[in-house]
Order: sequence, then structure tokens, then C-alpha cells
Amino acid sequence: MAIKLIRDGVTQVAAEPILEPVAHLDLVFEWIDGQYWLHSDIPRERPIGIEIDRELRRHEEFFKRSSLQKELLAKAIGVKGPARPTVLDLTAGLLGDSLLLLSFGCAVRACERNPVVAFLIQSALARAQHPKIKNFEFTFGDGETNLESLNNIDVIYFDPMFEDANSKTAPRKEMRIFRNVVGPDQDAQEIFRKARKLGPKRLVVKRPRHSVDLGEEPALQFIGKSTRYDVYFSKQIH
Ligand SMILES: C[S@@+](CC[C@H](N)C(=O)[O-])C[C@H]1O[C@@H](n2cnc3c(N)ncnc32)[C@H](O)[C@@H]1O
Repeated sequence: MAIKLIRDGVTQVAAEPILEPVAHLDLVFEWIDGQYWLHSDIPRERPIGIEIDRELRRHEEFFKRSSLQKELLAKAIGVKGPARPTVLDLTAGLLGDSLLLLSFGCAVRACERNPVVAFLIQSALARAQHPKIKNFEFTFGDGETNLESLNNIDVIYFDPMFEDANSKTAPRKEMRIFRNVVGPDQDAQEIFRKARKLGPKRLVVKRPRHSVDLGEEPALQFIGKSTRYDVYFSKQIH
């Protein structure tokens, strides 16, 4: 088994340093429209990739018609009037939430520790041209290390793959990559505790709607159809 990269019809075994830790996996990435996409394990299903410019434009169009103040994530991170907090997204994944935060006008620093997901992010970022991307900073590695240096960060955002008996399985194919390639984030409660201890005033945790809390009871909850945002405030002043 080996990771393969297909580019211009030529297949080669991946020699990307970022993929070395997972070189034993049986995965195929294909170069399409200027970036790499991960082939799905389901035949004929569209490969998985992140279309940064398209997503940011889609959000832009949406917020021309809909108020930002109605967005649960915006409420959870504390968007009020012209104030736009700077967010550290500890769990970048396929950038769904990071791009939404950027579209609110926030500056975002994001981390991803899984090499396959980080490779998709880096490949997508190399092609991105949307003006809002200048407010985005990405680091490959464990978000935990960022908890030691939180200069200018107002909010920590945490969306781990942490399942419990109450979690409903999400059918979206993006979720399958997290299940099959990334696996559960077993250390989610530990990272949560560390973020509570070291983090800035506000910590926002995304959970499936009916799941247990990651730690103690949150100060605020914003509940959507399938997910909810738990908000914790720290007494620590930075
Ligand atoms: C549920 S997904 C996040 C989805 C993301 N919010 C989105 O909208 O696309 C969880 C991701 O966070 C990553 N992750 C979990 N714990 C992490 C940590 N401590 N540091 C960096 N990445 C982490 C996992 O590898 C996985 O890709």
C-alpha cells in the first residue's frame, strides 16, 4: 500500500514530506483544476477537496441577503456590531468553519494535525486568491502547541471528532474522511481542559446537538438543527 498522486495523467508514489507519516495508507490524490483532491473510497463519487474561493464567494452572496447576527456561530464567537474577534481554530478539518469565520470578517489562525487533511488544505491554499484569505494563517501540527502562545487571540474554537452514544452518524462524505482517515480525536477532553486553562476569555466548542458536554456545563449554548455551540468564559485576564 502507498499513497499515489495523479497529475497530468501520470501516477507516482507520493514524495511529499507532509505525507510521510501516513505513507503506508492506500490513498489516491488527483490534481484537478490546480489543486489536489482525495479520491473517495466509493466508486464514482466526486473526490474530496476544498474550494476556498468558491466557498468564500458563496458565503459572501449569502450574507448579502441574510443577517450575520442570525448566524449561531457568529453569536457564539461574540460578533457584535463592528467587532470581529480574532479566532484560533484548533481543528481546521476541511476548513468549513474557518472559511465561515473569515466570511464574517474575522482573522483566523487554524491548525490541523492530520497529514492527509493538512495536505488538502495546503494544496487548496496555494491556489486561493480571494481577498479574505489574507486574514488566514494555517499551521500543520497539533493545535495544543499553539495554546502556549496566544498573542492577539480573542476566541478559541474547537470542533473535535469526539463521539459519544448520543452522537448521530453524519452521512456527509466529508465526515467519512474524518472517520476513515483521521479517526476519533481521543484526546479531545484533554485539549478542552488545556484550552480552558490557558485560553483567552472565550472558548467555543462545536458538538453534535444531543451529545454530552466535553467538560463542565457551558455558560451559553447556541443550538441548531444538528449541532450546537457551547460557549465557556474564562475568569483569566490576558
Ligand atoms: C470534526 S473535524 C473539524 C471540521 C472543521 N471544523 C470543518 O468545518 O471542516 C476535526 C479535525 O480536527 C483535527 N484535530 C483534532 N484535534 C486536533 C488538535 N488537537 N490539533 C490539530 N488538529 C486537530 C482532526 O484531525 C480533524 O481533521
